[in-house]
Order: sequence, then C-alpha cells, then structure tokens
Amino acid sequence: MLNLVVCVSGGGTNLQSIIDRIADGTLKDVAIRRVIANNPGAYALTRAKDAGIEGICISPKSYASRAEFNEALLRGVKEAEPDLVVLAGFLVAIPPEMIRAFPNRIINIHPSLIPSFCGVGYYGLKVHEAALKRGVKITGATVHFVDEGMDSGPIILQKAVGVEPGDTPEILQRRVMEQAEWKILPEAVALIAGGRLKVEDGQVRMA
Ligand code: GRF
Repeated sequence: MLNLVVCVSGGGTNLQSIIDRIADGTLKDVAIRRVIANNPGAYALTRAKDAGIEGICISPKSYASRAEFNEALLRGVKEAEPDLVVLAGFLVAIPPEMIRAFPNRIINIHPSLIPSFCGVGYYGLKVHEAALKRGVKITGATVHFVDEGMDSGPIILQKAVGVEPGDTPEILQRRVMEQAEWKILPEAVALIAGGRLKVEDGQVRMA
C-alpha cells in the first residue's frame, strides 16, 4: 500500500482526481491518509471530508514565525507516516527540512510544461496569463519531484494541451486541468505505487 499525504490550498480538483481514481479502482494499492490545507477555507477540505479522509488545516497565520509553521507542517506530514507526499495546488514554499525528510518522495503538479512559465510568481491563473501573453500554441502540465528549488525537481510526466483562439486564462486553466493535470497526477502516483520510477543524475527513468 502506498500511503499518501496530499497538501492543498484551494479547490482541490487535483486531490479529487486521486480520490476518484482510487474509488474507481484505477489507482490500486494507494490510500490517502491525510489531507493538509494551509487555509481553513480550502474547498479541498470539504472534498476530503466527503471522501471520509482526515483533513487538517495548518495555517501560517496560526504561528508566530515561519520557522514554527514549517515545524508544524513537517510534524503534520510525518504523523500520517506517508510513503509519498503529493502537493496538489499547494501554494506554500516547502521547507528544506521537509525536502530532506522525504528525498524524492514529494511530488508536485504544475500547470505548465516546465521549464516554461514556472518558478517564483508562476502559480494558478498567473501561469495561464503568462502563456497567453507569450502567445504559445501548446501548453500543458508537469508532475515533478520536489527539490529545494521552485518547480525545479526531476520531471516525472508531462502532458501537452493546445491553446485555442479566444482562450481566456480561466478557459485555458480549465482545459489544462481537465486534459492534463487530472490525468498525469494520478498516473504519476500509480507509477510510484508500482515502483516503476527511479531518479538517476536528476533524470527520472522507468525502473
Ligand atoms: C490550479 O491553478 C491548478 O492548475 C494548480 O493548482 C491550482 C489549484 O488546483 N495545480 P486544485 O483545484 O486546488 O487542485
């Protein structure tokens, strides 16, 4: 069994994609042990509750310093004893001590084809606004292992999505979610659950 902790900040549609694949039997030998949100209003917590999964909120606002929040976050993750931590729209810089505690055992979904439109300031709709402003014809999503950089870890899976005339950031975001994110995130979890991946010299290879 691959035990997951899923970290969320917003609507939780990527979390939902994992919940749904587990429920329909596509994602075998995987269990979500805990969902952690960094804000109490995250609808992702409702999705967790509806699926009978423990959801907790660890908010930076509840701690006097970033260091104390980082400690609480790492403690909250470790308590659930995950084999893999999934960042699903989690808008928090992962503390180095958490990266060190889970080397190549934290994955993130980013809504672009890394290395395009990633790094500091590129999250949520801003990614799609930048893609439309640049006039790219193809965008997509990336699942990667998390290292101490921002969106810089070894790439696991990518899926391309066409940009259509008249796209707004909202329309494009939805298409990237539906056609890419919600597919490759569960797929990456399945590959890891099946022991199919290894990381060599910063590159992900099929074992
Ligand atoms: C979305 O911008 C998505 O593209 C990115 O994180 C944001 C929230 O996704 N991965 P979710 O609905 O909370 O999974």
